[in-house]
Amino acid sequence: MKKKIKKAIVPVKNNAPHLSKMDKKYLWHPFTQMRDFLNDEPLIIAEGKGNYLIDIKRKKYLDGVSSLWVTVHGHRHPDINAAIIAQVKKISHSTLFGISNVPAIKLAQQLVKISPPGINKVFYSECGATAVEIGLKIAFQYWQQRKNPRPQKTKFLYLQNSYHGDTLGAVGVGGIDLFHKIYRPLLTENIRVYGPYCYRCFLGKNQTSCKMECVDELEKIMRTRHQEIAAFIIEPLVQGAAGMVIAPRGYLKKVKELCNKYEILLIADEVAVGFGRTGRMFACEHEHVSPDIMAVGKGITGGYLPLAATLTTDEVYKAFLGEFWEFKTFYHGHTYTGNPVSCAAALANLSVFKKEKTLEKLQDKIVLFTDQLQKFEKLEHVGEIRQKGFMVGIELVLDQITKESYPVKEKIGIRVIKEARKNGLVIRSLGDVIVLMPPLSIAKAELKKIAEITFAAIKKVTEL
Ligand SMILES: Cc1ncc(COP(=O)(O)O)c(C=O)c1O
Repeated sequence: MKKKIKKAIVPVKNNAPHLSKMDKKYLWHPFTQMRDFLNDEPLIIAEGKGNYLIDIKRKKYLDGVSSLWVTVHGHRHPDINAAIIAQVKKISHSTLFGISNVPAIKLAQQLVKISPPGINKVFYSECGATAVEIGLKIAFQYWQQRKNPRPQKTKFLYLQNSYHGDTLGAVGVGGIDLFHKIYRPLLTENIRVYGPYCYRCFLGKNQTSCKMECVDELEKIMRTRHQEIAAFIIEPLVQGAAGMVIAPRGYLKKVKELCNKYEILLIADEVAVGFGRTGRMFACEHEHVSPDIMAVGKGITGGYLPLAATLTTDEVYKAFLGEFWEFKTFYHGHTYTGNPVSCAAALANLSVFKKEKTLEKLQDKIVLFTDQLQKFEKLEHVGEIRQKGFMVGIELVLDQITKESYPVKEKIGIRVIKEARKNGLVIRSLGDVIVLMPPLSIAKAELKKIAEITFAAIKKVTEL
């Protein structure tokens, strides 16, 4: 008989070199080339306070991307912390499968209240990708079993450069080849259409010549293929992972009109743009659009605990009602669906929005941010500065005139964010686009500091 080999497990001590060693030994980081990571000194966060992150060496950094677009009112907000602790003292988890819990009910009511008109029902999950998956499955099943079924409506229309998460259904409506192409053999076939990436317009238009002809292209596809399209999924106003690509004003509204015209459901993926990021609670509000299905996540708990939700209309919901033996049930659920602690955190997050007048105070900060970003225009390698509210993408280019991108090997984005990190700012890049997305709670002086450090980092790295 083979002798069992006992693994030597060294307890992880709290000192920096040991933690770094153990990280490299045991962890596999998302969206990270681990070979590079292993050769680097990792940043290991130990604490957060307000708009700052504090690492294990006690160095402070401004949280310039809201810890991956989630932090809303800052870290360790007393109200959210207290709500979590109070809920843990009652119960940490009970299921929503066939029974209910108090915070899940209260939060559903609050979410419906703040959502665009017509949105009345809430289905919980834990992350943005699952919220999207649920939206896709609901849309598909709706057409299969509504009163006048349309069983041939089985495909989804999605935009080039879209990102909706990393599970397979979400990847199936993902339009970023770098992330999604390799998985294509695993995916169902959907329909991709060019969207408005105005800096690099696929129709060769510019700001003055544009009449939003990209909408005509979209309509052509809808006109010819609407019989097979269940839903159109879109990140309203801002394609985040594409590099904060901002749709021209009116685009979303036109999309909604076309969806109505061709009987296609509209799924708004508000995972990134929701909860104030664009300056309004939800991005759809900017164009008075009510989607049929809306996915939310990220900022829903203020960035404290994992939670997401898929919201929909009574019309869609009704298609799932029937006798038990008709099997119209939505056979979908995750173990932690509607977790009471996460829901309690989300309720506290929403009440801080009210108590601190977060959205009202944000408007001035958005203006200041715009002002601060203007000076980036004079940098030689800044191609475009894109901003919608507190979502900012600065696209770096080798040549401003030709818009030629940097060679991948230059790792220009990564070098800029590392330079910023040295100076006390944590930000992330998406390819050659430097992303800034501070917490909504950021103070004006901190916002200026973010702009200053980013400016200096871009200048230093690109003008070597
Ligand atoms: C628009 C959008 N949808 C969905 C997701 C996926 O969310 P999660 O990472 O929570 O699964 C993201 C994540 O960045 C996103 O930006």
